[in-house]
Amino acid sequence: MAKLAIAENTTAGPILLDALSALSDRAHDVITRLRATVFAPGEEKLVDLRFTITKAAEMVGRTSEAIRQAEADGRLPAPRLGPSGRREGYSLTEINHMRDVFGTRPSRGPNDPPLILAVQNFKGGVGKSTLTCHIAQFLALKGYRVAVIDCDSQASSTTIFGLNPDIEVDDEQTLLPFFRHAGPPDLKYAVRSTAWTGIDLIPANLGLYQAEYEAAARLRGNPQSLDRLRLGVESMADAYDVVLLDPPPALGMLSLAVIRAANALLIPTPPSTVDFASTAHFLRMIVETLEIMEGHLGARGFHFLRVVATKVDEGKSAHTQIRDMMHAVFGADMLSASLLDSAEIDNANVQLRTVYELTGLATKTYERCRNNLDRLNGEIELLIRKAWPSHRSELRRLGLG
Ligand SMILES: Nc1ncnc2c1ncn2[C@@H]1O[C@H](COP(=O)(O)OP(=O)(O)OP(=O)(O)O)[C@@H](O)[C@H]1O
Ligand SMILES: [Mg+2]
Repeated sequence: MAKLAIAENTTAGPILLDALSALSDRAHDVITRLRATVFAPGEEKLVDLRFTITKAAEMVGRTSEAIRQAEADGRLPAPRLGPSGRREGYSLTEINHMRDVFGTRPSRGPNDPPLILAVQNFKGGVGKSTLTCHIAQFLALKGYRVAVIDCDSQASSTTIFGLNPDIEVDDEQTLLPFFRHAGPPDLKYAVRSTAWTGIDLIPANLGLYQAEYEAAARLRGNPQSLDRLRLGVESMADAYDVVLLDPPPALGMLSLAVIRAANALLIPTPPSTVDFASTAHFLRMIVETLEIMEGHLGARGFHFLRVVATKVDEGKSAHTQIRDMMHAVFGADMLSASLLDSAEIDNANVQLRTVYELTGLATKTYERCRNNLDRLNGEIELLIRKAWPSHRSELRRLGLG
């Protein structure tokens, strides 16, 4: 029996292929059942965040009174009332409409460049996808238009946004055909909306692994092909304020293409000596790689490049020591906030959700985690806005420029 072949394989004999296949089937069954439980009664992930008028006022940047007044004089639609006659709570779409009416939506100006941010480190498991999805959702809550491009065949961001990459994503709907076929570098075919207002996604699935070979084959004798992803991202970026790239954890063709496509870089690094060493290697690699690419394809700078400490457990002296050392080494090139290791991120993960999707929680752990994410993402938002010339006078006025 296939099931027993692995369990009883105490000798060094061969593990049968059908045993591995049964293991894989069982793992996929668990995922399907987990999705059915957490997305019940439907089969799709729904994100239905509701905000009170006080929260809406804070998000819109006007007082509750100003919102009530606009509802009364018809500039805003009348609020939806529940059976008790109280406001039902505003959706993010309604809050964005309020921002448009009051002129407080913080989008980039028509001459500001779309920010194309890669969250990259060749090391695996450092928090790239977790950070990417939480940045995307923080920015969407602020009213920015965001796209996430999942460039990793492990499809973590795709999964976090609620898709089952094995079933709901076809190879043709990922970046794969873009790397496989010649033709105009246009990525619009792969963009789809998500359960999140303001966030679109180019999903990934396991088949995207093939793109490594396709891109490597294309590169031979044709260094310009490394710029194909950059041109593809530029073909769609105009519709967004920020495009986030979630690359695979390896130095391969896709990772190089991502470095070339990005105009800003975040380098997540957990506070361990091994991870720090990986980041030091990563920095050396990108210097060498960018030099070579520059020779073939021309210079391309970053609006910003920052190291960010991730998965930091402040209860561990080793973590805080290494983080302090990182601050001493990287100085202003490191974000002052760190992504703290948090049970809340794990709890959200178990439910195939992010911290920004958990609602109705007022526990201390939740508040701490949410405040930590907001502070970190606030720093990133400021760096993004500094890249936009039309925001500079406002930032100076606020003392942030
Ligand atoms: N701050 C955190 N607190 C607790 N768990 C975290 C935190 N950040 C990430 N994790 C967990 O660590 C694991 C790896 O995170 P993630 O997938 O974001 O890393 P990654 O760098 O994208 O990995 P890969 O290199 O495989 O793409 C996930 O299970 C994630 O839930
Ligand atoms: Mg990842």
